[in-house]
Amino acid sequence: MEKTMRTPIIAGNWKLNKTISEAVALTTALKALVAEVSDVEIIVAPPFTALAAVRDAIADSNIHLSAQDVYSEDSGAFTGEVSAPMLKDVGCDYVIIGHSERRQYFDETNESVNQKVKAALAHGLKPIICVGEQLEERESGQTEAVIEDHVTGGTAGLSAAELLSCVIAYEPVWAIGTGKTATPAQAQEVHSFIRGLLTKAYSAEVASQLCIQYGGSVKPENASELMAEPDVDGALVGGASLEAESFAQIVKFDQ
Ligand code: 13P
Repeated sequence: MEKTMRTPIIAGNWKLNKTISEAVALTTALKALVAEVSDVEIIVAPPFTALAAVRDAIADSNIHLSAQDVYSEDSGAFTGEVSAPMLKDVGCDYVIIGHSERRQYFDETNESVNQKVKAALAHGLKPIICVGEQLEERESGQTEAVIEDHVTGGTAGLSAAELLSCVIAYEPVWAIGTGKTATPAQAQEVHSFIRGLLTKAYSAEVASQLCIQYGGSVKPENASELMAEPDVDGALVGGASLEAESFAQIVKFDQ
């Protein structure tokens, strides 16, 4: 499948930011700025506390709702966790899983990522599975080994149909929040490697349909050159998604 057949997916990961009223203000401004966009899947991922309010603010719009994490169990004695049925209930279509900040600060592993991916899929949520190497890993030539480990670990046991309900987000850790974006060539190299891995594990047809996002210091100034690469199908945006104007400019990367 040609790149042009894959709908670009631009998602804003708000991380630990925005009260309910701030979230609604941002969403309301964004909604107006992107109302005419029909060729891009637009996603916002507010913190758990703002999901319901943002769901109401995006009603009847072209913006989809995502959570930033999910627990692998549906219910029970797991104080502090939020489950896939709960996220579905609040109106999420997507959930970010395995973000490097969760791997780094909250002991997320490939195994827990894989369990969460399966829980999300079982309840009709689309996982955005994050993968990416740290600076020392890149500098010591381990990028491909780390990416392979994250991709195969995160997607272990998924059928082709399940895989195609997922999005993979390549986020080099050294590019997150640092202002050091991967060059388009660096992003393309890893995206093409990921598609190659999935070609081997599934088939060329399946791999060619999968959306692979890039994340790490995506800004209005660099979004279109990243998106021009043949295997870069979208962006997972942190800092620049916290302001309606800059996120809308990224959503409109091709205008
Ligand atoms: P920044 O865009 O702030 O670098 O964050 C990227 C990210 O981690 C998105 O999930």
